[in-house]
Amino acid sequence: MEIKRVMVIGAGQMGGGIAQVCAQAGFDVILNDISEAAFEKGLGVITKNLSRGVDKGRMTEEEKNAVLGRIRKSTDLSDAKEADLIIEAAVEKMEIKQSIFRQLDEHAREHAILSTNTSALPITEIAAVTKRPGQVIGMHFMNPVPVMKLVEIIRGLATTDETYQAVEDMTRKLSKTPVEVNDYPGFVSNRVLMPMINEAIYTLYEGVASKEAIDDVMKLGMNHPMGPLQLADFIGLDTCLYIMEVLHEGFGDPKYRPCPLLRKYVNAGWLGKKSGRGFYVYE
Ligand code: CAA
Repeated sequence: MEIKRVMVIGAGQMGGGIAQVCAQAGFDVILNDISEAAFEKGLGVITKNLSRGVDKGRMTEEEKNAVLGRIRKSTDLSDAKEADLIIEAAVEKMEIKQSIFRQLDEHAREHAILSTNTSALPITEIAAVTKRPGQVIGMHFMNPVPVMKLVEIIRGLATTDETYQAVEDMTRKLSKTPVEVNDYPGFVSNRVLMPMINEAIYTLYEGVASKEAIDDVMKLGMNHPMGPLQLADFIGLDTCLYIMEVLHEGFGDPKYRPCPLLRKYVNAGWLGKKSGRGFYVYE
């Protein structure tokens, strides 16, 4: 099955980035959000990213305008009827995702693939509310989407080989590298990354070292581009907490218990970069 038109649900940080890379790869993109204001905000970020590419000589002004011209506004999920592949990047709440997938299943054409960019929720449980679980799959992009090469492709219990192959081929067309994984809590990326971040927070909580020292150890000693506490701020502390809770509940193993300091920060509204304060303070 050839994918020509893509619909992205959610014009936030992840959805906007996904829409950008799809349009840059030549796909027609329908970018959907609940309001025109949310769409315009997302398009503003995409425009800024592309303009930086023009300033750095990576693309011309005409190419930038052509990319933007391939992104169409939508505030109605019934626009799914025009897409071959739908990538959902809405909020990380199972009830909301299931409600979106029920509607997408109703409107999308028979051949269309429904995918989710969830960072930890079970694909199989999302697929179960549709009449096409074989055509439901996870496409987990990494933040910042235009920069990071990986797309973790997660097979739900019923995902067919044909669906997997179409999504793998599409991912390569985005100049990304697909990696196939199965549907277990946190998949591979967050099952490995989040316990490391959580352990770094425990290290701070227990007074083993300062936040700067913890980040320096991992940056200078392990060659990580960011220290784990800075990365947690970048991802969002609420997202980190929610993923730890998915792991904790999904495996029933106390080794995944979220650090009380992480919970305290989230309860205080210290969510990291997006709220202006997390482990560090931002302008
Ligand atoms: N959007 C678009 N481009 C961006 C960007 C953004 N938000 N942030 C940085 N860039 C681009 C810059 O424009 C720059 O491009 P050029 O070199 O072509 O000019 C390039 O990225 C490097 O940026 P900087 O020089 O400003 O800074 P840096 O070298 O520190 O790189 C970084 C920034 C790429 C974010 C790097 O720090 C990094 O790789 N950090 C770790 C990122 C990471 O681990 N992501 C995964 C998070 S986990 C996740 O996403 C999954 C989940 O489920 C939670």
